Amino acid sequence: MNTIGIGLLGAGTVGGTLIHRLVEEHAAIAAKTGLDLQVRSIAVRDPSKKRPFEAPGIAITTDAKSLVDDPAVDLVVEVMGGQDPAGELVLRALEAGKPVVTANKELIAAQGSELIAAAERSGVALLFEAAVGGGIPIIRPLSETLAGERITRVMGIVNGTTNFILSRMSEEGTAYEDALQQAQDLGYAEPDPTADVSGADAAAKAAILASLGFGTWVGLDHVPHTGITDITATDIRYAANLGYSIKLLGIAEDTSAGVSARVHPVLLPTDHPLAAIRGATNAIFIEGPAIDELLFAGPGAGGDPTATAVLGDVIDAAREILAGAQVAPRIRFAPSELADFGSVPTKWYVRLEVADEPGVLAQIAAAFGEAAVSIKSVWQEGTDDEATLLIVTHRAKETQQQEALERVRNLDCVNRVAAAIRVESDES
Ligand SMILES: NC(=O)c1ccc[n+]([C@@H]2O[C@H](COP(=O)([O-])OP(=O)(O)OC[C@H]3O[C@@H](n4cnc5c(N)ncnc54)[C@H](OP(=O)(O)O)[C@@H]3O)[C@@H](O)[C@H]2O)c1
Repeated sequence: MNTIGIGLLGAGTVGGTLIHRLVEEHAAIAAKTGLDLQVRSIAVRDPSKKRPFEAPGIAITTDAKSLVDDPAVDLVVEVMGGQDPAGELVLRALEAGKPVVTANKELIAAQGSELIAAAERSGVALLFEAAVGGGIPIIRPLSETLAGERITRVMGIVNGTTNFILSRMSEEGTAYEDALQQAQDLGYAEPDPTADVSGADAAAKAAILASLGFGTWVGLDHVPHTGITDITATDIRYAANLGYSIKLLGIAEDTSAGVSARVHPVLLPTDHPLAAIRGATNAIFIEGPAIDELLFAGPGAGGDPTATAVLGDVIDAAREILAGAQVAPRIRFAPSELADFGSVPTKWYVRLEVADEPGVLAQIAAAFGEAAVSIKSVWQEGTDDEATLLIVTHRAKETQQQEALERVRNLDCVNRVAAAIRVESDES
């Protein structure tokens, strides 16, 4: 039998489900793959904690380094999360010639370049299918299946919590705070939701998608991110009237200024495939000249879907161990120009509260014009002596759009820039 010894770093939501699946479905996996996958030991923080899985004959330890060094462990699965000590342990395994499977986007986004290089030096695999999109196969399609495609843009709803909140706000008119509370009650959002609602979690995933999509390493510090905390039900309603949905997107694209990755809320035309993605579902939309458009959608988190992705990587790495060959890296990264966000072309939706008097529109149009931003459409609603103006601009460099906003903000006739959200559509 083709026996592979597995050491697990972590046995929480993902690790616990994985152990359960490896034990319960051992015979089915063996029948399908010819592999006898044996969990040898598990490293956790608190070994006295009650676990929702049976682990007969499996050692439970707090000594993660010894687990990695154990000669009975052929393959290491890292599902502990965070960078420290996960990074050091993953590096230790790779340097010892053991393949590693990880679900840790934070680790890959921050240290992926050096870890992938270490894997290459040792000729073993470092696989991280579960790091983006949970149960959605996206890492392998992007880095292997589509390796021959000249990808132009990857856009993703890569954070289920924020998509759930925005869906509730748009479908039921729920206020942001109430939608966040509902997400917490249903277990979609952590008690401290900052990483999700600030866009930081999505930024780590966007960095990985950009790196794989364009074959150049995009570090986290090259992914500007804005979250959804300023999005209001009012803007969701106005956007819907204009034919848009509001989504938090990770966007990676090959622009004339270089490779760019960013995360922010966008107005997306309601007929765009990503606009239809509701609730906690994740989706990644890939564009290229030959494939035109591809959409991958499904559960972006949760023990079971994520464990399926991890299990697929485990089976892949186990096959390579048994083949006994030096593993070629899945993808190579070459240095490339990374775009400065200021030079990336963007479009904006701006909601202004203005004095309802003659000449206001002309002053605002002039302010945009002085920043070389042209206006695509204007919609006005008056209420007594104040009016609401909704402006959608044409595409211009991000710096020009920011300059236009600043000029508008300084006009005496503008009481408030109530909202400014980028628009993502194929029109110029
Ligand atoms: N949950 C999801 O839906 C999901 C989806 C995609 C990707 N991921 C990624 O998968 C990874 C694991 O997530 P999770 O939700 O399973 O986390 P979790 O439930 O918090 O589990 C973490 C596990 O790691 C152990 N651990 C943490 N620090 C440790 C240390 N220093 N030494 C030894 N053990 C340690 C914990 O031990 P104790 O049990 O003793 O506390 C626990 O068993 C993360 O990188 C996450 O981003 C998760």
